[in-house]
Amino acid sequence: MKTFADQQHTFPSPQAAADAVAMHIINTLKTKPHAVLGLATGATMEPVYAYIVAAFKRGEVSFAGVTTFNLDEYAGLAPSDPGSYRSTMDRLLFDHVDIDKNRTFLPEASATAWEAAAERYEAMIVEAGGIDLQLLGIGRNGHIGFNEPGSLIDSRTRLVELHADTLAANARFFADGQVPKSAITMGIGTILSAREIVVLATGAAKAEAVNRAHSGAFSIDCPASALQTHGNVLWFLDTDAANARAAA
Ligand code: GLP
Repeated sequence: MKTFADQQHTFPSPQAAADAVAMHIINTLKTKPHAVLGLATGATMEPVYAYIVAAFKRGEVSFAGVTTFNLDEYAGLAPSDPGSYRSTMDRLLFDHVDIDKNRTFLPEASATAWEAAAERYEAMIVEAGGIDLQLLGIGRNGHIGFNEPGSLIDSRTRLVELHADTLAANARFFADGQVPKSAITMGIGTILSAREIVVLATGAAKAEAVNRAHSGAFSIDCPASALQTHGNVLWFLDTDAANARAAA
């Protein structure tokens, strides 16, 4: 397995780190136009999608053959709700590139039969051939997707309750500050099934989580520490997010 140093790329600014992630995704699509991408939301990803949209407009990349699966979706929100991750993905990426929206998938937030919907999502990923590249952010508490501390390393897509610090961190995305208290997320095991995982973390608020993700072995208190077991993870950091590690 590669060591952490082999997998880490540190950039002078959040923008530079995001640009590098976008270029990595674009290069993947150039070599594999029918790639299956795992996509992520969160403010960290916004400059990644902006770079990709600009590259598409310059004719440098096509999504015509691409299939996507997002990590997670809030429970109980209609897809048309501006706070939903479906709306977010449409706004940031899907509405601006040549992707077939019928091949863009998010966990079914409006489903009442959660378990069946979650099983279906897992099956759809398998039927698509598995995820080639999973884009991943990290929560301040070390969560990946919406796998909060306490999530099992072999967890699969399921309904989860969000922790108070996640609700506080994500309130800024909702006009009334009211974040849904539950979500459907790919499990840690689902994420680890991807052939390649690309993590983007920027800003000092992520430094501790990045550091804990690499300290010791997998700890249930830090879901991102499960990435140590994967073997094909690229970390893209800015100097602020990498700082605690450099000091450690
Ligand atoms: C959200 C998402 C995660 C994301 C994380 C960081 O809650 N579910 O997939 O990685 O929190 O978000 P941000 O980039 O806004 O800090």
